[in-house]
Amino acid sequence: MTPFGSAQMRGPDTPMKQSLPDNVDAVMELLAAGRYVADRSLATALFLALRLERPLFLEGEAGVGKTEIGKVLSEALGRRLIRLQCYEGLDVSSAVYEWNYSLQMIDIRIAEATGETDRERIEKGIFSERFLIKRPLLQALEPDVSGLPPVLLIDELDRTDEPFEAFLLELLSDFQATIPEIGTVKAPSPPIVVVTSNRTREIHDAIKRRCFYFWVDYPDAARELEILKVKVPGAAEELSRQIVAFVQELRNRDLFKLPGVAETIDWTNALIQLDKIDLDPDTVNSTLGVLLKYQDDIEKMRGSEAARILDEVKSQLAQIQP
Ligand SMILES: Nc1ncnc2c1ncn2[C@@H]1O[C@H](COP(=O)(O)OP(=O)(O)O)[C@@H](O)[C@H]1O
Ligand SMILES: [Mg+2]
Repeated sequence: MTPFGSAQMRGPDTPMKQSLPDNVDAVMELLAAGRYVADRSLATALFLALRLERPLFLEGEAGVGKTEIGKVLSEALGRRLIRLQCYEGLDVSSAVYEWNYSLQMIDIRIAEATGETDRERIEKGIFSERFLIKRPLLQALEPDVSGLPPVLLIDELDRTDEPFEAFLLELLSDFQATIPEIGTVKAPSPPIVVVTSNRTREIHDAIKRRCFYFWVDYPDAARELEILKVKVPGAAEELSRQIVAFVQELRNRDLFKLPGVAETIDWTNALIQLDKIDLDPDTVNSTLGVLLKYQDDIEKMRGSEAARILDEVKSQLAQIQP
């Protein structure tokens, strides 16, 4: 085993690091400090993942706050964030490591020029850590400057091809990676791992079994209102209520792509820009493109349908707070 780098002591000017939360309430507080509004079930899954040193697998529709959890964890715990954005065709050389060929070539040339002829020695030299380009998954096995393991965010795993998942298995179960020329590199202590998937395809059971699984659902109206308060504090209370009720109603419709929390936040910011403190049919129609990203969905909602939802929403809200 070849643990990379040595754990350095924290210098005088590095920020205070948070220790890991002791209980579920502490996780709730940690997320709240990072302006993340979580329900107890998510905080519990996160607490267990942190305590038992297992990756957390977050699955859910786009825009429900999965990626944000990884970012908030890194920020709130004061750990380095290492993010691997997945895409089709992602391979080991972009995700784990790559040899620095040009530097190796230079080294060989220098060896030749200085009359070095021992091939074995040259080979040993050029396949050493100095010539290794560490990509995110390998970087995540090293502690940061303060000696603490980082947060590794493997984002949108469903975008990769299945063979890539096989590479992840060793990493996620043993927090180690094997480089044939060097050996096995193991993290001195496991990184905090968050894996997300938008579920455009099923992720293999073998990966899921190594993780704690949590389905991130759309928030209910109360929590979405809470999120707006935190993320768009400038919005008028009444407007926020209308927005949330409208979006919640849209999510009951048969649409190709339902609006996520990201869209609710965007819409609120857009309406503030338009100086709105109250929703009206014209404004809804002209801003539907902030909420819905498919022309068919917009066509379905525009006009009388949007007006009908808005009427419903307003009468519902009037009943709650006459
Ligand atoms: N529970 C939440 N609390 C605070 N902000 C949230 C929450 N859920 C979603 N958001 C916000 O919604 C946006 C989209 O979240 P993101 O994590 O990118 O979604 P996903 O990764 O699920 O597609 C971000 O701006 C995030 O801050
Ligand atoms: Mg995301």
